[in-house]
Amino acid sequence: MSKSSHVCSSCGAIFSKWLGRCPLCGEWNSVVEQLNKAKDTKNKTSLLPAVPIKEIKLVRDSARLCSQIPEFDEVLGGGIVRGSATILGGEPGIGKSTLVLQLLNSIAAQGHRCLLVSGEESSFQVRLRAERLKTIDVNLLFLSETSLPNILLAIEDEKVDLVVIDSIQSVTDDSNPSSFGSISQVKQCTAELVELAKSSNTAIIIIGHVTKEGSLAGPKTLEHLVDTVLNFEGDRYNSLRLLRSLKNRFGPTGQMGIFAMRQGGLQPVPNAGSIFLSDRNLDSPGSIIFSAVEGQRPFLVEVQALVTPSGGAPQRSSQGVDAKRLNIIIAILQSCLGIPLHSFDIFISVVGGVKILEPAADLALGLALVSAWSGIKLPSDLVVCAELGLRGELRQVGHEELRLKEILQMGFSQVLLPQNGTSKESSLQLERVSDLNSAVEFLGLEFKRNKRLRLV
Ligand code: TYD
Ligand code: MG
Repeated sequence: MSKSSHVCSSCGAIFSKWLGRCPLCGEWNSVVEQLNKAKDTKNKTSLLPAVPIKEIKLVRDSARLCSQIPEFDEVLGGGIVRGSATILGGEPGIGKSTLVLQLLNSIAAQGHRCLLVSGEESSFQVRLRAERLKTIDVNLLFLSETSLPNILLAIEDEKVDLVVIDSIQSVTDDSNPSSFGSISQVKQCTAELVELAKSSNTAIIIIGHVTKEGSLAGPKTLEHLVDTVLNFEGDRYNSLRLLRSLKNRFGPTGQMGIFAMRQGGLQPVPNAGSIFLSDRNLDSPGSIIFSAVEGQRPFLVEVQALVTPSGGAPQRSSQGVDAKRLNIIIAILQSCLGIPLHSFDIFISVVGGVKILEPAADLALGLALVSAWSGIKLPSDLVVCAELGLRGELRQVGHEELRLKEILQMGFSQVLLPQNGTSKESSLQLERVSDLNSAVEFLGLEFKRNKRLRLV
């Protein structure tokens, strides 16, 4: 093995020789030399022997640190597993530092030693925040540090049960020649922190700022290094915050916890219900209610669409839904209903800052667009839920019963669902349709190709 390799500090690609420009990401002067750590190949007997799976200890609930904040513990599948590594991602200012301080304090209050390492805030700032949040348990330690070797030493010396690093982008390792905050540094620091956490049975939560494009410290390079990936999201100008598990080696993924950011910190919101519908404007076209399920939690959310004639190249903007999915739905509306959306600017927004990952939101997006384009408003007591196939067919969705129960509880009366489902709810006016055309027909809209929709 050669003594050094050349690593792109922008994308993390490795080359055998130095290059002026990285051929993978196109960045200039980003390739730097990195010394390879020599591997001891002679001492092969020190390798761990293989063991029968039957003899490996199971993770018991006692091996979990419960925060007793149910919205947090449930997302992790029952608390933080000792010795596990978690990444908590989210946009700057969303409330990550607030969440971890409350979490650490709650765990410290049960007698566990907890350590917060911050490279972003001074001790004074942290103390002020702790006063505000009333998180000043004696078992909660603080260290203002950015150097990786010092952080590793502190974790070993303090013998803590849980450590939080706020944030990985502020940690530096002088032995790594790539620039501060580069992907290569972030990756190496994460790997070393995770390694120590595992060997010392210390649970670690690493905070990572997510860039505007939604990637954590560049590409998703860190996710495979850890056991659990959590994302904290919401609209910064709205108090709602959602905690979601994107990966979890110790529990179910897709679980969601809902919080509200208040003066005294984050408050759990156990009954999501119609929380996303509070500012609803019932009288405008382009608005529809979608019945969502994240993890096992049903909730109703408003999807809004705005369609305006385009002055040049048509604009597409989507908040809370995947931009690629939106493009597919626009194409389906054009081909199945003949709506000439190519000459319109299109804006989609999921109200409340929630991100919808389920394809079950397809029909809601489609109908919101049809309604916005035609200027005809949809019934205000209607809730829809279906995935769209490329030919406009409606596909069945999971958790139908859970959704219907929530719709009924929230006082809505009409539901539009795909043909193939079997769930029944006698108190609801439940309509099952096979495709987009039938959905438009059911809503009392008659469609004329290349003309605007009009009510019959
Ligand atoms: P913060 O946890 O610093 O965000 P992040 O670590 O993700 O960058 O929280 C930032 C915002 O939260 C800030 O704008 C102030 C607000 N906030 C409250 O509304 N209430 C509170 O009790 C606290 C501590 C913060
Ligand atoms: Mg912070």
